[in-house]
Amino acid sequence: MDIEQKTFDTKPELYSYIHEQLRLICAETSDETAVLANASGLLMLELDEVNWAGFYLFKNGKLILGPFQGKPAVAEIEIGAGVCGTAAQTHETQIVEDVHTCCNHITCDFATNSEIVVPILANGELYGVIDIDSPVNSRFDSEDAKELEEVANIISDFITK
Ligand code: SME
Repeated sequence: MDIEQKTFDTKPELYSYIHEQLRLICAETSDETAVLANASGLLMLELDEVNWAGFYLFKNGKLILGPFQGKPAVAEIEIGAGVCGTAAQTHETQIVEDVHTCCNHITCDFATNSEIVVPILANGELYGVIDIDSPVNSRFDSEDAKELEEVANIISDFITK
């Protein structure tokens, strides 16, 4: 596996490459931790202006830190708490343009200014969330949400196969 960092002219082209590489990651192992570790590395490598990319997994009624790239982060998040806990509770993607004006953001890295969190469902049940932070404001838009929801779908397909 030798994933090269590539640059693309448009978001659809970039995310099409990310989706393709993620499917290859999922095809080379049956191990969940290895897939999530490589997925976090892929997102960190290919998405610009990102300072944290990783997963929180739903275990024993709360979100537990999973594989990620970036500074050490909070290990456990209650459902409904923070941006991650809100995505987990609502099963809806959360886009935060400015974490400093967000009512319930949990700070893990003071460099973070915007964030997107996408829920991952497996057979309709919460499996976890994808959490991506950026040092710039308003880094993520509805197109990122749609494309990262496809990332979540690819991971869901891997988990449920
Ligand atoms: N900011 C997240 C917490 C996780 S750190 O960003 C990695 C939140 O508010 O849920």
